[in-house]
Amino acid sequence: MSKQFAVIGNPIEQSRSPELHHAFAEKTGISLNYTKRLAPLDGFEANINEFFGSGGIGMNVTVPFKEQAFAQCAVLTERAKIAKAVNTLWMQDGKLHGDNTDGQGLVDAIHALDWNLKNTEILIIGAGGATRGVIYPLVKAGVKKIVVANRTLARAEQLVADLKNAVPEAQLQAIALTDLVGHFDIAINATSASLSGDALLLPETLQFKHAYEMAYGKPSSFLDQAKERGVPTSEGFGMLIGQAIEAFSIWNGVKPDLKDFI
Ligand code: ATR
Repeated sequence: MSKQFAVIGNPIEQSRSPELHHAFAEKTGISLNYTKRLAPLDGFEANINEFFGSGGIGMNVTVPFKEQAFAQCAVLTERAKIAKAVNTLWMQDGKLHGDNTDGQGLVDAIHALDWNLKNTEILIIGAGGATRGVIYPLVKAGVKKIVVANRTLARAEQLVADLKNAVPEAQLQAIALTDLVGHFDIAINATSASLSGDALLLPETLQFKHAYEMAYGKPSSFLDQAKERGVPTSEGFGMLIGQAIEAFSIWNGVKPDLKDFI
């Protein structure tokens, strides 16, 4: 029987993970079966116990269960501890292990675009879970300074205070979205504005050389404003593939090349 994998969430129908993992499997010659699992909101623990109890190898976790997955794990990677969220699960020595591959997925997607991260100054708009998950991997990839701009300043300040000690080699700064000024190498939209169809208005004076939208397949006022500035842009499909590749390599010991899938 082929190795069993799954993605768990609620809703789950929209997930592209099965098609991605089957494409990686085909490319690397690994035989696997990757399914979607819809868990009721109060049924996450029972669902993963059933999956791993019946021989499942690895599971991806999506909305709204990433924090619950974090709480369930006996062993966590450093980046998962910092993200306080887990998107990749596996069993090892009878213990549930958890990692968070979202941030590395973003780093790999940016590298696949041939945008530099070393010694750069990055703007991240938004101060929710998406931002929390990517700061540590960005700093490990060589980013020198990260400014977190948020509509609600207190949330950005809290996030920066929380993460400061985890990334002593970088400078972290919080700012209110309305006070945002400066010149950045890359601006990243980590807000949920595009997902909810809301506009995200950037100050006219704000400058950046590249723009990355974490959402994908949705109209993005962030990307529209970036295009008006004439800078290279990307939406988050590369990040989605990148996080999936990183999970695949944890479970299977082989890392497919992101450039083969974008
Ligand atoms: P996620 O886990 O995806 O990061 P979240 O924790 O709900 O989701 O955070 C959503 C982020 O998008 C927040 O930073 C939110 O700003 P506030 O903290 O001020 O709520 C931001 N956001 C959502 N819609 C926005 C909009 N229309 N304009 C600006 N920021 C927005």
